[in-house]
Amino acid sequence: MSKILITGACGQLGSELTSELRNIYGTDNVIASDIREPNEYIGDGPFEHLDVMNKGRIEEVIEKYNITVLYHLAALLSANAEKNIDLAWKLNMDGLLNVLNIAREKNLERIFWPSSIAVFGPDAPKKDTPQNTATNPTTVYGITKVAGEQWCAYFYNKFSVDVRSLRYPGLIGYKSLPGGGTTDYAVDIYHKALAGETFTCFLEADAALPMMYMSDAVKATIDLMQVPEEKVKVRTSYNVSAISFTPEEIANSIKKQIPDFEIEYEPDYRQEIASSWPDSIDDSAARSDWGWKHEFDLDKMTADILENLPQIIEKA
Ligand SMILES: NC(=O)c1ccc[n+]([C@@H]2O[C@H](COP(=O)([O-])OP(=O)(O)OC[C@H]3O[C@@H](n4cnc5c(N)ncnc54)[C@H](O)[C@@H]3O)[C@@H](O)[C@H]2O)c1
Repeated sequence: MSKILITGACGQLGSELTSELRNIYGTDNVIASDIREPNEYIGDGPFEHLDVMNKGRIEEVIEKYNITVLYHLAALLSANAEKNIDLAWKLNMDGLLNVLNIAREKNLERIFWPSSIAVFGPDAPKKDTPQNTATNPTTVYGITKVAGEQWCAYFYNKFSVDVRSLRYPGLIGYKSLPGGGTTDYAVDIYHKALAGETFTCFLEADAALPMMYMSDAVKATIDLMQVPEEKVKVRTSYNVSAISFTPEEIANSIKKQIPDFEIEYEPDYRQEIASSWPDSIDDSAARSDWGWKHEFDLDKMTADILENLPQIIEKA
């Protein structure tokens, strides 16, 4: 039985991934860790305070629980990274290199590390951005993800570390608040719609971006980690996609259920980041190599969030 450690487990993705991994592998086999306090969504299972920049502390936790599989999620996200470029480089790179070196030294079975569509900059084709194309990111977050992808491929090719990765699009979940990314508006918009407030969007009305509902992101992650090693042919990071929409389109999807909902636009520095990213992604390699398939389109996601978010808000 795998013993799993998750770093950055209290984040937007980590909360939901931890709870799903605990459903599959058993609570005691999934150790959540973060520099923050645990939240209610990751449940009552084992938790460790762990700073991923401290290699000795990661080793200590791995030895304590006999960890075999590690999901390394801790990172500084795109919008926050632009505000603190030194920390972004240090956290995103040192954290990953600590994990890869430990995986090599301790012969860990498997590692997951998320990349992002932020690897692509203005030189990449905007529509159906291919798996392999110019990246040339213009954000520090994108630079850390391109470098991280190359480290993953290097550790796989040189040291046989079985590290697997996905280039997530913007992730939309309702269970926890996002951590300072450029696609955070697509979470906040549902909160404002349910509160009966006008939503002020920090992107322009027609800023199309690739997005994915959190349950699809969790499924993609676990699917990739469960397939046999030989099926994982891309060792940098797989393009994965589900839906692509603009702020105007998500607002119209909400209006189908809340007709009075209103949106206004006040683009800020995050519009510049969004403009440098793809509108949509070609993920045919993921679909053919290991059978990736998304479940949620825009209206199905909107219906699910508007049905479930009120209970979360009530509890908070
Ligand atoms: N959310 C998205 O839209 C998105 C898109 C593409 C890629 N990703 C990637 O997925 C991963 C998880 O993203 P998320 O949305 O859950 O981010 P998040 O900001 O919500 O969570 C990150 C977590 O890492 C923790 N953390 C920060 N510094 C740490 C440190 N030094 N040691 C240990 N933990 C630390 C934070 O406390 C936080 O709980 C990241 O690698 C991110 O780059 C996310």
